[in-house]
Amino acid sequence: MTHESTPDTSMPVRSRSRLIVGNWKMYKTIDQALSFLDKIIPLAKDVDCKVWLSVPFTAIKPCADKAKDSKVVIGAQNMNDAAEGAFTGEVAASMLHDAGASFVIVGHSERRKIFSETNAFINRKVKRALASKLTPLLCIGETFEEHEGQHTKEVLKKQLVECLDGISKEEFDGKVVVAYEPVWAIGTGKAATPEIVEQVHLFCRSVFTEIFGKEAAEKVLLLYGGSVTPDNANGFLLQENVDGLLIGSCSLSSESFAKILKLRHNVIF
Ligand code: 13P
Repeated sequence: MTHESTPDTSMPVRSRSRLIVGNWKMYKTIDQALSFLDKIIPLAKDVDCKVWLSVPFTAIKPCADKAKDSKVVIGAQNMNDAAEGAFTGEVAASMLHDAGASFVIVGHSERRKIFSETNAFINRKVKRALASKLTPLLCIGETFEEHEGQHTKEVLKKQLVECLDGISKEEFDGKVVVAYEPVWAIGTGKAATPEIVEQVHLFCRSVFTEIFGKEAAEKVLLLYGGSVTPDNANGFLLQENVDGLLIGSCSLSSESFAKILKLRHNVIF
């Protein structure tokens, strides 16, 4: 089986679009970001997935300007929950939108752990993002201890219920993207298995069905993140409920990111 993106009309097409997101974390100057885009923008137009890049604050405006009229969508990695105010060093959702961001990562485990972010705070960010025309990319995930203790489902359900509290079906429907990123798989080289991810994603979809109904639950894009590489990416993408990937270190090199973009995305194997 070849995984290059050659169109094959004999295969059924996925109902949900495929989304590949790079999260650069605290890497890349503006120049480095722009030369990455020089390589990825031409390639993106020929791949059969959506391409999003979550870049440092300083690179949002130049990247969004460069990616305008291309298939590459630029977003941010964090925001504050307030509309504006005396919060030295913080950035508001409206400012990200003004700079050209289309989406924002909220609830990343690095922010939960290093910056003590709670589900309640993340919930306020999701609401603020939606009100500011930004798509929230909500990250959830259990720690190694929770995974070992078989508490994954209860942890994820609590995160989903609390982070999406008070959001209506209409606000949620097609407007929130969710990434399952087990904390133990992030930056460790120990990715979850595709089978675990598929099971977890099915569970998440059942939680969305409970909260928002089946139709909205079927629509939400569910990404996997945690030590994704060009070598293991396809294993995840073969799973019916994996709608895409959230990639950290392998999104920093345009070569490895390009390899993942060029996999076959829109067919059901
Ligand atoms: P790695 O791909 O480096 O494990 O990072 C995953 C991640 O945290 C993406 O948000």
